[in-house]
Amino acid sequence: MTAQSQGRVVVAPSLLAADFGRLREEVDSVTQAGADWLHFDIMDGHFVPNISFGPLVLAALRSHSLLPFDVHLMMTPVDPFVTAFAEAGADHISIHPEAGPHPHRTLQLIRSLGKKAGVVLNPGTPIESIAWLLDLADIILVMSVNPGFGGQKFLPSQLPKIAALRRMIDDPARPDAEARPIALAVDGGITPENTAEVLAAGADTLIAGTSVFAAPDRAAAIAALRGVSSRGEAL
Ligand code: DX5
Ligand code: ZN
Repeated sequence: MTAQSQGRVVVAPSLLAADFGRLREEVDSVTQAGADWLHFDIMDGHFVPNISFGPLVLAALRSHSLLPFDVHLMMTPVDPFVTAFAEAGADHISIHPEAGPHPHRTLQLIRSLGKKAGVVLNPGTPIESIAWLLDLADIILVMSVNPGFGGQKFLPSQLPKIAALRRMIDDPARPDAEARPIALAVDGGITPENTAEVLAAGADTLIAGTSVFAAPDRAAAIAALRGVSSRGEAL
């Protein structure tokens, strides 16, 4: 049973903050520390001013992990690379609607490959931009920093947006409302100090790089993001 299906907060450490020289050990470390998904930030130097890694890195880690690989594509054009990431082992593939002229078609492509499809909203992107994509979305990812770098400060301006998206997801009139849950994830500057307000706004999934990988005790850090101690007591 997944954390999401149990109604528990899903925590997905972002490997962007891991030690790239020891990626396999880093994956093992956060897996043992209680991670639900592994978040992979793919940056192309065009859509965002940074370059990270490509499908070969996912493929190299795939046989060493049973966790879902949650892939966040910050690249344009994005369509030519979707299949490569699916074949490399992605379970979820999320795209920015700005990354191509036809995000609806890109989500259809992700679904046709048997993967969960996600849409990502930059801090300046309005929620209306995805209103007609919801029937194809398994994940909505709210950027609470501008994409491109780890270690930035959380933008509180995104809290009302998370709340508005929660209302949009829970609207019984939305397409596919009965059929499928949609995860509402938040990515950027997530720490144990701000998760209470992020969860109260309606998020159910937390992406966290620095606050997990830089923590002396990663299990305690992941538990703290969920608002509990490593022994499961409320903080
Ligand atoms: C930013 C990425 C984030 C980032 C989060 O472009 O999408 O996933 O790695 O890192 P922290 O938690 O350090 O802000
Ligand atoms: Zn990300």
